[in-house]
Amino acid sequence: MQDLMKKIVSLAKRRGFVYQSSEIYGGLKSAYDYGPLGAELKRNLMNEWWRDMVHAREDVVGLDASVIMHPKVWEASGHLAGFSDPLVDCLVCKERFRADKALEVAEGEPAKLFFPDKGAAKRALSLVERQLGVTLERRGKELNGAVGNDRGYCCPNCGSPWLSAERQFNLMFKSALGATDPLGEVAEAFEDGELDGLKGRELRAKLEALMKPSAVYLRPETAQAMFVQFANIQQSMSMKVPFGIAQMGKSFRNEITVEHFIFRSTEFEQMEMEFFVEPGTDDEWLDYWKEQRIAWWRKFANDPDKFMLRPHEPDELAHYAKACYDIEYEYPWGYGELEGIANRTDYDLGKHAKHSGAKLDYFDPVEKKRYTPYVIEPAAGATRGVLVYLIDAYTEEEVATGRGTETRVVLRLHPKLAPIKVAVLPLIKKGGMPEVAREVVEAFFARGINAKYDEQHTIGKRYRRHDEIGTPFCLTVDGQTLEDGTLTIRDRDTMEQRRISRDDAVNEIERLLREG
Ligand code: GAP
Repeated sequence: MQDLMKKIVSLAKRRGFVYQSSEIYGGLKSAYDYGPLGAELKRNLMNEWWRDMVHAREDVVGLDASVIMHPKVWEASGHLAGFSDPLVDCLVCKERFRADKALEVAEGEPAKLFFPDKGAAKRALSLVERQLGVTLERRGKELNGAVGNDRGYCCPNCGSPWLSAERQFNLMFKSALGATDPLGEVAEAFEDGELDGLKGRELRAKLEALMKPSAVYLRPETAQAMFVQFANIQQSMSMKVPFGIAQMGKSFRNEITVEHFIFRSTEFEQMEMEFFVEPGTDDEWLDYWKEQRIAWWRKFANDPDKFMLRPHEPDELAHYAKACYDIEYEYPWGYGELEGIANRTDYDLGKHAKHSGAKLDYFDPVEKKRYTPYVIEPAAGATRGVLVYLIDAYTEEEVATGRGTETRVVLRLHPKLAPIKVAVLPLIKKGGMPEVAREVVEAFFARGINAKYDEQHTIGKRYRRHDEIGTPFCLTVDGQTLEDGTLTIRDRDTMEQRRISRDDAVNEIERLLREG
């Protein structure tokens, strides 16, 4: 199944969906650029979310907040103290990895060490003997004789059970705001002897204190701005509980383990909504939102059965959550998270009220009572959603040709998500056909539909190209168009063709897109 990922990554690059960031400089680990078609796909997905979560509901309003917020936001939310991953260094190959992503090996079980070549295995053999006093047996690129330790895991890179202690590593990207130079402050303190004699924790605390006045963070989730702006939005928009605030946009996490293409990256987009409810009604609303959200993802999928709801076990709940469901998708490597729907209780409003001194509660004008609302949060990954629908859409099928059969690659994207909605193709590049095709394209532009004029290569090759990028409909202008004003409409999935009037083309495509 990993082959499928290779094919998708290759198609994504070849056809302009997703490129490695800064590729000409060797690429930046875990950063991606969405090309012309990827940008359209991501935008379409996010627009659908906004339409369904904000425009189609009277009880949800939108927000577009700054990425960089007051640093106290992250102190209050607990991100400064607790948004971290446990990191471990391998004492043999020096790989740094997340303890929760390590290779599981039970205590006392054989732990085989593995290396890319014999030379690396020989070097590791002698290092283990010299530095750890253990003699292993080498077989080609492998070392045998080690056993798993009481941690229950080994290095995912070489399989070694010799590891450093776990250290917590904060995932927020730190920067500096204003005309201050934090390194200059440190250098000055060093020159003035303020750091003399300081070591370990004390030294770190002093350095942090020197840098703190200008320290700011790139948001690791879009959620916090919706808590911080709760009172402004509730009052300026006269919102009555229950109501929601929705936001979508970039989030940043200094992820140590980046994996599976755009599944986990350092810069990604989220689509989050905080739904404020009266305490006591929160369980009901959690049920409501988990059903709404899974139905939403399934609506655009060819294979809705690949989405499932998984309740969190009590020991995996985030510190702020009373209950949580993950919407998981069956990726080629197994089930994994796509969206979390959490009952965050009054944790965030309570924390921000305490840290800021602001009133973040709600007065119910009908019941005449005041309370701090509970929050149900559906938090989805937009970039992860792009990956899910690329996987869901990718299909290969054998089709008959004049000379036998060939493999047709089709991206069966939902028409609402498809980057290009309709391709308009003159059968040949002469005889008045290009002129008519361009007029048809103009009619689509006038109606705000993303259409593309395409005259490169044979008609067969053009159909295949549009199948591969998920264009749901192709309109072909041929000799008959010039005689009777009809053109062919070809369906991407069935490959069926029928003739429609050129004058009806825009209405017909609009109808097909609406019906999805
Ligand atoms: N406000 C809650 C929150 O941020 P989360 O489970 O950490 O919860 C929500 O993130 C969603 O954001 C995830 O389900 C996932 O789809 C997406 N996401 C999180 N980290 C990501 C990363 N490093 N790369 C891509 N998507 C990510």
